[in-house]
Amino acid sequence: MRTLITGGTVLSSTGASAADVLVDGERIAAVAAPGVFDPDAADTVLAAAGKYVLPGGVDAHTHMEMPFGGTVVSDTFATGTTAAAWGGTTTIIDFAKQEKGTSLLATLDEWHRKADGNCAVDYAFHMIVSDVNDTTLKEMSTCAGAGVNSFKMFMAYPGALYSTDGEILRAMDKATEIGATIMMHAENGIAIDELAARAIAEGRREPAQHGLTRPPELEGEATHRAIMLAKVTGAPLYIVHLSAAQALAAVAEARDTGQNVFAETCPQYLYLSLDDMMAPGFEGAKYVASPPLRDRSHQTDLWRGLRTNDLSVVSTDHCPFCLKDQKELGRDDFRDIPNGMPGVEHRMDLLHQGVVSGEISLARWVEITSTTPALMFGLYPRKGVIAPGSDADIVIYDPTARQTLSAATHHMNVDYSAYEGFEVTGRVETVLSRGRVVLSGGTFSGRVGHGTFLSRDRCQYLR
Ligand code: URP
Ligand code: ZN
Ligand code: ZN
Ligand code: ZN
Repeated sequence: MRTLITGGTVLSSTGASAADVLVDGERIAAVAAPGVFDPDAADTVLAAAGKYVLPGGVDAHTHMEMPFGGTVVSDTFATGTTAAAWGGTTTIIDFAKQEKGTSLLATLDEWHRKADGNCAVDYAFHMIVSDVNDTTLKEMSTCAGAGVNSFKMFMAYPGALYSTDGEILRAMDKATEIGATIMMHAENGIAIDELAARAIAEGRREPAQHGLTRPPELEGEATHRAIMLAKVTGAPLYIVHLSAAQALAAVAEARDTGQNVFAETCPQYLYLSLDDMMAPGFEGAKYVASPPLRDRSHQTDLWRGLRTNDLSVVSTDHCPFCLKDQKELGRDDFRDIPNGMPGVEHRMDLLHQGVVSGEISLARWVEITSTTPALMFGLYPRKGVIAPGSDADIVIYDPTARQTLSAATHHMNVDYSAYEGFEVTGRVETVLSRGRVVLSGGTFSGRVGHGTFLSRDRCQYLR
């Protein structure tokens, strides 16, 4: 089965050029100047004049079917990866979450049971470590051998996912030994819990208090502490869902001194703010995630970080909970609102707005949404680039189409959109996942079960 994509502008992390792309089976066979390939030799020809042809998105931070906050995330691997495909994301890296008292290997098995045969696009895993002990540390090596060599830890959520500095140090030592990356949720959870308890004691119970009791200083502090622990141990460190200027400053300082510190931000921190969490009634619960949405002033810094590469990846932290039956758990106490926001479907479109507004270049759009996440998590060049031999994960994107984001039209299994009414320029027109057209002209033609597990290498920015 040969597919020829003709007449488009092929994008990469370094630029754009007019080129045709020949797909043979699941792989890209060749990229050549327009007109070089004979259309008669292809089974299907996709005309892409006036369109961008870019590598499928790699979302390095999703949560599907995850038990969290007294409930379970509303997207399954089937619904979540289908929504990803609609939005031009052809690879997700999901977090397998260790429960205290269970082993990493049992957790990994459990995530394979959830995902295998149930994904519309390709998927890989990170591991969430919540119980640091001798067995866990040994199992980190086994996980790395099984294609999962990045481990998220939490400085937030005491009594649940939280690890002490000592536990983090032990896990970092192991990561250094095996060449794995430690991913950090960097917020000072001990101090935050105190501020949150005080708010409740004073009768401040509404969703906005979630944001007000998690000040950016406590993200900055935890980020700096994580960086120092990484420096002492030599572990590569990746700060997840960075939201605050203070945290970005700590990352930039570490990178300037040559430390292997990397960071991602998420669309919600670039486009939404504390104001959204202040919405009247219980509406603000839609925006409760950790770290919280910040004052708009942080956004200027985040965009600059994306340009300077102090922020090198944009992931979604897709973690959807329905407003009606799930966010509702915290109507009387903001601490009980399950933390997380939906977004896996809109990352490519939202970041394209950064191109439209001039915050980032076209090449940078591709780099932060596809090429760098693939390199960062050992998937390159299988993913993240349009080149001979790479998987034919390809998006044909119409840069001039207009669309309005809404829960009425999105494909995520959640009853609201965090971006309701957002008018965006650009739209995913066609998506190929390993050579198969899974989306075309507003029709999903993919198949749950087509997605395959991706065993990952170590971070490709390390020596
Ligand atoms: O609020 C969030 N971010 N929920 C998902 C879990 C996490 O910390 O990434
Ligand atoms: Zn987190
Ligand atoms: Zn997350
Ligand atoms: Zn629901």
